[in-house]
Amino acid sequence: MSKKPIIAPSILSADFGYLARDIEMVNRSEAEWVHIDVMDGVFVPNISFGFPVLKYVAELSTKPLDVHLMIVQPEKFIHEVKALGAHTMNVHYEACPHLHRVVQQIREAGMEPAVTINPATPVALLEDIIRDVYLVLVMSVNPGFGGQQFIEHSVEKVRQLRALIERTGSKALIEVDGGVNVETGARLVEAGADALVAGSAVFKAPDPTAMIRQLHEL
Ligand code: DX5
Ligand code: ZN
Repeated sequence: MSKKPIIAPSILSADFGYLARDIEMVNRSEAEWVHIDVMDGVFVPNISFGFPVLKYVAELSTKPLDVHLMIVQPEKFIHEVKALGAHTMNVHYEACPHLHRVVQQIREAGMEPAVTINPATPVALLEDIIRDVYLVLVMSVNPGFGGQQFIEHSVEKVRQLRALIERTGSKALIEVDGGVNVETGARLVEAGADALVAGSAVFKAPDPTAMIRQLHEL
């Protein structure tokens, strides 16, 4: 019997015209974290929101912020992310030639360091960083947009990552992001995922609170 997954609704799929309402829904729900997708139009082919908007999100949210930076040179923004009161700062493996240094800097700033891997990045490349991170985020779509189709191979990557964590004695959590719904989520949890990010599955559901509860029960 696996323990309940951590659920992190992604506000990228919220209704920005009613952002406060949607954040309050997450506050009242069973979700553990709020997932925040920052994009720069360089690392990914889209731009989402920046710090002036996130300041408002951070003030309204009562749940820990899981900040996913889909940007080049994320180390430039450690101070800004910390100022939001973020719990986890997720940087992409592909965006950090000096990943070990960035991970140390995030920890020194008082946040939990997380590393994200794109669909084409093999789990094996995490061998030398896995003991230093709080969490690994496996992208199960190509980052940049909500509402994309789940990439099947991600389930196998979660299994490989679980094996790497067990073999190395790392305490890293496994989070998965992209195309997560009740069906894919169940298989990801079975493969060893600890945390599920869900954007459209939650915010496009007729009853988002009930959907969060359903994902939580996987
Ligand atoms: C994609 C983002 C995701 C996105 C997921 O670039 O990192 O967090 O919000 O959206 P869904 O759950 O709709 O695939
Ligand atoms: Zn994300």
